[in-house]
Amino acid sequence: MSENQASLTAGGNSVDMPIKSGTIGPDVIDIRKLYGQTGMFTYDPGFTSTASCDSAITYIDGDEGVLLHRGYPIGQLAEHSSFMEVSYLLLNGELPSQQELADFTRTITRHTMLHEQLATFYRGFRRDAHPMAVMCGVVGALSAFYHDSTDIADPVHRKISSHRLIAKMPTIAAMAYKYSVGQPFIYPDNKLSYTGNFLKMTFGVPAEEYEVIPAVEKAMDRIFILHADHEQNASTSTVRLAGSSGANPFACIAAGIACLWGPAHGGANEAALNMLKEIGTPDRIQHYIDRAKDKNDPFRLMGFGHRVYKNYDPRATVMQQTVREVFDALKVNDPLFETALRLEEIALSDPYFAEKKLFPNVDFYSGIILSAIGFPTTMFTVLFALARTVGWVAQWNEMISDPGQKIGRPRQLYTGPTARDYVPLSDR
Ligand code: CMC
Repeated sequence: MSENQASLTAGGNSVDMPIKSGTIGPDVIDIRKLYGQTGMFTYDPGFTSTASCDSAITYIDGDEGVLLHRGYPIGQLAEHSSFMEVSYLLLNGELPSQQELADFTRTITRHTMLHEQLATFYRGFRRDAHPMAVMCGVVGALSAFYHDSTDIADPVHRKISSHRLIAKMPTIAAMAYKYSVGQPFIYPDNKLSYTGNFLKMTFGVPAEEYEVIPAVEKAMDRIFILHADHEQNASTSTVRLAGSSGANPFACIAAGIACLWGPAHGGANEAALNMLKEIGTPDRIQHYIDRAKDKNDPFRLMGFGHRVYKNYDPRATVMQQTVREVFDALKVNDPLFETALRLEEIALSDPYFAEKKLFPNVDFYSGIILSAIGFPTTMFTVLFALARTVGWVAQWNEMISDPGQKIGRPRQLYTGPTARDYVPLSDR
């Protein structure tokens, strides 16, 4: 057996399987021939030991707390870059030149308007609908409006639909908010930046001039950068799986939004702030820490723990710094921030969290910032979806461009009844 092969003996057969190496990160054992040679599948519910694809977009070293987009550390991107630039990077693999960034930004800006008929979709939802429910519906409906860009075999179509998705997501998200508060929809303003425009569409009203606060715009843009991509997380894997059947990109992104909604994933930002509100003051923290440790209590510290990070989530570090910037800019001071800092301190010094390597993740501090900016908690996961759209689209494009791409079709360990004869209703 050569050095770059793994050997497995199963069912009396010995199988040699190639070991594949990436540029960094763990090697993988290529098990694709295993079933043919042994008649056995591998078993990995939750994909804790399974790489589902090759990807050159994002790299995470969970033990070291490292997150790279196309090789660039998230901390550097958050400090020096913009969401438009990071979007270009994720989609194209390289940072843009000045001209490339200007062209890309112009293209995205020109796609921000929605087909007017889509506005009537919103009126079909109850006003108190969760905005993520509205997002699932309206984004899925985009494929009914933009079918001139749904030939996924055509790279030009893929590019146009990608641009449309990135550009229209802020408009759709802002309209979901406006609908929930009963205010008129605000059309995009192409003079503004991607993020400034989103803030205006969300918080502006026709009766008054809306002024974008630069510090808030910068913080929001940074939050978008921090959420832009995160390799093969649950929603991205959902987008890839949906896309692997040849489904159109709008439908695939709607599937990603549905997956993101869950509290174990993107829904955690909403849940984390609700938890902090419930805890309230630092003197009540220990009670919640005890509950999180109690195996008989389903309560978990929301915004804590991660499948991949077994160290501080680098996005949480930036997020924590951004809280102070936003507070300074808006001259506010939410006491929940003190509660969050104290909760982090108490949890990190507790052996339960240390042994299980549970640290704050991206969702722990984001809610405090979003709340200070003026978003209701129900919008938090919508903002995550808005920003993650570029990552989903980049990952979807990477998959479809791969000539060896196959439909995703996992197998199972069947535990149901064995074959039995149908019993007529009269005999049961
Ligand atoms: N509070 C208390 N205990 C926890 C927590 C938590 N937040 N997270 C994990 N644990 C415990 C868990 O009970 C388990 O203990 P044991 O080994 O004794 O059974 C151990 O840590 C491992 O947890 P797991 O659920 O097997 O780990 P996982 O990789 O399947 O789950 C997770 C990862 C993110 C779903 C989980 O940590 C969690 O539910 N966290 C709270 C929700 C959250 O903040 N999610 C946002 C993730 S980051 C944003 C994103 O990517 O969407």
